[in-house]
Amino acid sequence: MGQLSTVGVVGCGLMGSGIAQVCAEAGYRVLVREVSDELLKKGLGKIESFLAKGVEKGKLTAERKAEVLGRLEGTTTLETLAGCDLVIEVVVESLAAKREVYQALDAACPSHTIFASNTSSLSITEMAAFTKRADRFVGLHFFNPVPLMKLVEVVRSPLTSEESFETAVAFAKSLGKTPIRAGDKTGFIVNRLLVPYLLDAIRAVEEGVGSIADVDEGMRLGCGHPMGPLTLLDFVGLDTTYSIANIMFDEFREKRFAPPPLLKRMVQAGLYGRKSGKGFYDYSQEPPRPMAGLA
Ligand code: 3HC
Repeated sequence: MGQLSTVGVVGCGLMGSGIAQVCAEAGYRVLVREVSDELLKKGLGKIESFLAKGVEKGKLTAERKAEVLGRLEGTTTLETLAGCDLVIEVVVESLAAKREVYQALDAACPSHTIFASNTSSLSITEMAAFTKRADRFVGLHFFNPVPLMKLVEVVRSPLTSEESFETAVAFAKSLGKTPIRAGDKTGFIVNRLLVPYLLDAIRAVEEGVGSIADVDEGMRLGCGHPMGPLTLLDFVGLDTTYSIANIMFDEFREKRFAPPPLLKRMVQAGLYGRKSGKGFYDYSQEPPRPMAGLA
């Protein structure tokens, strides 16, 4: 396996833009694919504004920002990624959408290209089976906000070759991240532990154990977490968490992964968290206020 120099990132939403950014910061040439020019512009705009804030904070120079942006190139066609040594897929958590992407990539990319999925809960083995390169298929699970969070879970399926897996581990290190190795079990390591905790926090509110503010304060000050669980749920997205919980419950059939009714009702009501302006908190004011009347 040669040295990786060009990385493709399929999907430039919240996670994809962060992944593209850290790859460009680490010196890789990055090709970013979105389905339309509008989404591409929006995604690359997120990177631009994160770096601009970094310049304001004195974390990087304007020259460094220009250099990082200069390594990023946008495209709306998957075939443009044919020259990539590694392609990281960051599309919606739908197997049908992922199958379409992987089949097109598999036909377009040379045999040495490694495919990596940033999925948080779908099976790496199942996605690898969409391609003819299951030995060169891994999971690379990043955490939000990608430029600030140090961890990457590197996931192997039973078919992943040792060489591809170690290349992926070395790649995560080259981004300045700390990799941990995980097997292809739904939720991997972090979400297996995090999701039941987040769902329990919702149950605590639902059952009147404590208020939204007090549950959050409890975990922040009592356990030293940077964010309380309900703030974190709003940050990750309630729709995203609901989808992950459903996938995990389908897999394990254990109550701890079952989405609580309150989560389901909030998703039905469009209360997705920060991205929609309201979730457990109302973000229309500063500081955000806990939402009344949820439980
Ligand atoms: N450029 C450069 N540096 C920046 C920056 C920018 N645009 N924005 C912030 N930073 C730096 C800050 O300067 C600061 O650096 P310092 O420590 O040297 O001063 C550091 O990043 C932290 O930034 P802030 O002070 O602005 O923010 P906070 O201290 O409030 O931390 C946070 C923000 C890192 C998001 C923290 O609240 C946190 O860790 N929250 C938990 C996040 C978490 O758990 N994420 C995982 C979610 S689960 C997931 O993603 C998996 C999925 O599958 C569900």
